Amino acid sequence: MKKKSLLILLLAAVALFLPLSNLLGLSGENEPIAVISGSSQNFANATQIFQNKCVDCHSPGMTRMPIYAKLPIAKQLMAKDIENASARLLLSKQLYSGEATFSPLMLGRLEGVVRNNSMPPALYLSMHWTDSLTVDEKQTLLDWIIEERTKLSWSQDSTKVLKGEPVEPLPLKVDLDVQKVSLGNKLFHDTLLSGDNTLSCASCHNLTKGGTDQAKVATGIKGQQGPINSPTVYNAMYNLAQFWDGRAKDLQEQAAGPVANPSEMGAQWDTVVEKLKQVPEYQTAFASLYAQQGLTKETVTDAIAVFEQSLVTANSRFDQYLRGNNDILTANEKAGYELFKVSCSSCHVGPALGGLSFEKMGVKYDYFKLRGGQLTDVDKGRFNVTKDEKDLHFFKVPVLRNIELTLPYFHDGSAANLADAVRVMGKVQQNKSFTDLEINNLVAFLKTLTGEYKGKLITQLNNDDVK
Ligand code: HEC
Ligand code: HEC
Ligand code: HEC
Repeated sequence: MKKKSLLILLLAAVALFLPLSNLLGLSGENEPIAVISGSSQNFANATQIFQNKCVDCHSPGMTRMPIYAKLPIAKQLMAKDIENASARLLLSKQLYSGEATFSPLMLGRLEGVVRNNSMPPALYLSMHWTDSLTVDEKQTLLDWIIEERTKLSWSQDSTKVLKGEPVEPLPLKVDLDVQKVSLGNKLFHDTLLSGDNTLSCASCHNLTKGGTDQAKVATGIKGQQGPINSPTVYNAMYNLAQFWDGRAKDLQEQAAGPVANPSEMGAQWDTVVEKLKQVPEYQTAFASLYAQQGLTKETVTDAIAVFEQSLVTANSRFDQYLRGNNDILTANEKAGYELFKVSCSSCHVGPALGGLSFEKMGVKYDYFKLRGGQLTDVDKGRFNVTKDEKDLHFFKVPVLRNIELTLPYFHDGSAANLADAVRVMGKVQQNKSFTDLEINNLVAFLKTLTGEYKGKLITQLNNDDVK
């Protein structure tokens, strides 16, 4: 028998012997939590709801333990619940007092559970049946989430009524040193960075192909097949770390990797630096832009990183909608977005619709069982970096901007098209089987995320545009 069904039986047995008030009541040992109302009425209302219905699991140390929590199995399960719950959402004292801010990620997760009716968990509600969220309380939480989001600098460009959305428009202009951008662009497209002068960064991150190679896995020098799919470089600056498993802390650290990776560009940095120094154009550029350091591994990767920060694909149709052009989206695209807010934006949130967290591939259903085939090393995901069992099969949430161009999908390139990727996401992350109409709407919405680079829709870029 499963542990959870055992718990239900146990609780039912306890319920027969204990007065109801005891069962629902507090054990009385823990001090009550003082809710300090924050700057607004919405915040005060929201924290009141948290205190009444959420802190049992989401505020370790501040918990009101129900009486059955003392029973051996229940105690163990409660402890597990508290551990799992606070890993996802920590309602800390600082948050209550208004000292700490709610991150866009936390707000996205909260909106997700409110729209999904998934909190408090069903098993808990079977004992605390008065604790489910009422329609009014859900509205209160949504109102407060909207209020929090309007404070984010990311939402500044959104039209007034859409400032509370989980997705914000990409900036139309980024302030960067244009000369460094242009130097980085040249380096990004230069095959001198590879061991046999055949590959550049752009070989696998082609800017006319959505910043990818549109292949299942990457092909390195001498035709070597790599173990993993190439993610896009467009909007990569929105990632909390780089690579599927987040092993590089930023774009500069990332750029050092492929050059020296024997199965990618297969070069030695010392040799690359020597080769680049022979090029007069580079000599002049590095002397003027990096007068102190000159041409080194660090300055080469810095210029590439600055260039990558310019790869922001603004002005997609969805961004125009967020900026106030209500008619630009079709009814199907809007329906897809509404569904996205229920099922997807707890993870795919923020201006790039991702990049803000590591999440398990297969939260609700075993993805690797569904996919079949042998488990590979890269399937372990974030675990490879932290060696923590809790991170097994966790991956950085990919950004979804320009997603129609970055096929095939997932770290293993297993989904050939967008409809397949959406179907798999619904199944493994939410245990939902979408109807064909829902899939079509979600795909239609995702295609509104295709943006512009150098003033042109990226679907229309040719090789000369990106040089
Ligand atoms: C009985 C314990 C319990 C209570 C009470 C509870 N939660 Fe949770 N919560 C969990 C657990 C366990 C998880 C992590 C696993 C999961 O998502 O099911 C979680 C996860 C979450 C998440 C993260 C969802 C995500 O996207 O990963 C949010 C947000 C959340 N809870 C909000 C709430 C809110 C709001 C309330 C009160 C209305 C609440 N919870 C009450 C146990 C609880
Ligand atoms: C042989 C193909 C290949 C070449 C050449 C290559 N990359 Fe990549 N790139 C990949 C693959 C595959 C990954 C994912 C690897 C992983 O996560 O383990 C990746 C990841 C990245 C990422 C991280 C994106 C994200 O979402 O995490 C960036 C940024 C990037 N590459 C930039 C570059 C730059 C800059 C160069 C040139 C210095 C370069 N790449 C050369 C294949 C390549
Ligand atoms: C629990 C967090 C979570 C939720 C919810 C979620 N995703 Fe994802 N999504 C991920 C992660 C993590 C990956 C990368 C997994 C991998 O490659 O193994 C991913 C990958 C994707 C990809 C492929 C991206 C690429 O570049 O290869 C698409 C498309 C996608 N998700 C769409 C959706 C849609 C649509 C929904 C809602 C139906 C959704 N996701 C819900 C976490 C989530």
